[in-house]
Amino acid sequence: MTAPARPATSVSRPITGGLATGVWCLSTPNSSYVLAVAADGRLLQRHWGDRLGDVDSARLGEAAAVPPYELPLESQEPLPVDGGLRWGPPSLQIAFPGGVRSLELELVGDAVAAEPGAHRLDLVLADTRFPLQVVLHHRVRDDSDVIERWVTLRHTADSGEPLRIIRADSGNWLIPQLGDYRYSVVSGGYSAEGQLRRGRLPDGEYRLTSRTGITAHHANPWMMIDDGTATEAHGSVWSVALAWSGSWRLTAHRLFQGRAAVSAGFGHDGLSWPLDPGAELTTPPILGLYTGGGFGAASRGWHQHARAHVLPHPGEDRPVLYNSWEAIEFDVDEAVQLDLARRAADLGVELFVIDDGWFSTRTSDRSGLGDWWPNPGRFPGGLATVARRVHRLGMRFGVWVEPEMVNPDSELYRAHPDWVLHFPRRRRDELRRQLVLNFARTDVRAWALDWLDRLVADNDVDHLKWDMNRGFSQAGWPERGDAQDWLWIDHTRGVYQVIDELRARHPALRIESCAGGGGRLDFGMLARTDQVWPSDNTDAYQRQSIQHGLSQLYPAAVMSAWVTDKPYSHDEQRNQYAYHVAMAGVLGIGGDLNTWTDARHEQARRNIVLYKQIRAIVQRGAQYRVGDPPGAGLTAIQYVLGAESVLFVYRPHAEVAPGPDALRLAGLDPDAAYTDPDTGAVAAGRTLMSAGLPIGGRLPAGDWASAVIRLNRTAPRPRAG
Ligand code: GLA
Repeated sequence: MTAPARPATSVSRPITGGLATGVWCLSTPNSSYVLAVAADGRLLQRHWGDRLGDVDSARLGEAAAVPPYELPLESQEPLPVDGGLRWGPPSLQIAFPGGVRSLELELVGDAVAAEPGAHRLDLVLADTRFPLQVVLHHRVRDDSDVIERWVTLRHTADSGEPLRIIRADSGNWLIPQLGDYRYSVVSGGYSAEGQLRRGRLPDGEYRLTSRTGITAHHANPWMMIDDGTATEAHGSVWSVALAWSGSWRLTAHRLFQGRAAVSAGFGHDGLSWPLDPGAELTTPPILGLYTGGGFGAASRGWHQHARAHVLPHPGEDRPVLYNSWEAIEFDVDEAVQLDLARRAADLGVELFVIDDGWFSTRTSDRSGLGDWWPNPGRFPGGLATVARRVHRLGMRFGVWVEPEMVNPDSELYRAHPDWVLHFPRRRRDELRRQLVLNFARTDVRAWALDWLDRLVADNDVDHLKWDMNRGFSQAGWPERGDAQDWLWIDHTRGVYQVIDELRARHPALRIESCAGGGGRLDFGMLARTDQVWPSDNTDAYQRQSIQHGLSQLYPAAVMSAWVTDKPYSHDEQRNQYAYHVAMAGVLGIGGDLNTWTDARHEQARRNIVLYKQIRAIVQRGAQYRVGDPPGAGLTAIQYVLGAESVLFVYRPHAEVAPGPDALRLAGLDPDAAYTDPDTGAVAAGRTLMSAGLPIGGRLPAGDWASAVIRLNRTAPRPRAG
């Protein structure tokens, strides 16, 4: 039986220990992480799991003797180096001048600092012979079970030769001894992002990586580990996530001797970065979360952390959006967009976004990317006219941009062919007829910031859909010679910088991250964007598994979900199913409103009214997956925010899966009474969570049956004592 999670309150003494004892214990409200110096001087991870008392963590220091020769030790180290008697995957690998490898680090100092709502521990290591300092940073917060770690590498000489960084992970997390190890990750592809996969962690190394320059569609930089028995509601789950939006590598290392560790960091194999004297490299944060409450609690822990410490505007209701891309693609012009805007406003839409096709010669994917001025034939009054009308209709105004890209057929490329990633004497392979602009370059960033700033200012733009439609290839930066691999880090940092500066100049601007669908969703991007376009796949049934996978880490408030015309505009029940799927995220409309029947308009109106009533619960509430996973029968997702709860139930195929007639809910106050405002039915929280909520009568007959059920806490029963 798992102890109930502690509320997110202040932790007394979140960091204890120090150099004198050689033990450090970091605690969150519900977990502890202990490091200790072993007898041979090396730093080892001694515990990551349930919260420990001071005495227990001190004892872990005593136990840190040097294990026998046969047991590979490096997986226990917080940042195993390439050096000495280590043969596992290194988290830190450096070549010093003269080709010297084999790092020899020793602990030279520690520092604990209080930050607002958090505590930080820095452990300082130095190479015994070469001018390299390695600082292991840790942060624990008073209100989150997520532990943040990152690393700073410093070349401490004033002059001399650079050292070459070959691998610089943000941290290696030791998973304690378990009977077995199971991983949970997402796999996928374009239009099939976020497919949850679970399997036995194989002996040896299981590696996920992106070499695309972005987070990528085929994987996402996180992994959960359990012993194979955890469920939604029970069991210990360790999860690790890298907050980075460029190429990355994550390695789970399982030892025959019964240990596993997960190390991750930016960059992919084969790259290297020279570090000049006096320079430093700071890695992106790697986040670790332990919970004893199963996969559901792990997800809620991540969602809560995202709201409290990642998202820029977590308390804001995400608006209901309209975007015509899925309906008419590039065929945008002033008349068509204004007509759609009027229709959208009439449905209750709050944000109107013009997608691709509004600028220069961009009437297809052949030309114009890079030339960011309105197409005069299509928008004779510029975007400002449309923006004004959209605002007058009571909606916010949004625009699609793809700042990191250029079509070779563009004025920009003709003027600056050297601005793209390229190698001399190599082809420049196009994908979707476009090349990647090198955002590591200051001139490229200055250009992007300038036109984006003017676009937003001159047209009162409230929302940008920031797209990025292809991976890097021929990723060279000839001017930087030997140092050109820095572009793999600095492109991403450059994108962050431009977005951060744009937001600083336009505090009311909101941004959606898109990369050919969900190719750039991660905690790095979420720190500076408000929502994400998870996939170009808008089929509601397939979207369920995409949303299911993404929701393992990322909250519903960031998942844009549109009802489009795919593929069933004639079937009212199936359309309703699509609304219910989209309403479990951030509802948007993407169909061709000009072709919709009155009944479809009315259906949209009704659902938008309902969504506005429940969206605070969906977007800010705790999420419980209380049914089967998508595809397996009766899927159900429940959100709870304070006294309110909303339940989405989906039964796509009536004959295959009639499902249970009552669903056991979660997250309610067992001693309170809950009323369904639609039926007036009242039941105790305890009853709803143990006997379940009868749902048989709530679902329509046939395929594509779905329902939204609301429950409001109406009468808290006075507690005894
Ligand atoms: C990508 C996005 C789409 C749309 C198009 C426009 O594919 O994922 O939503 O914006 O680009 O070209």
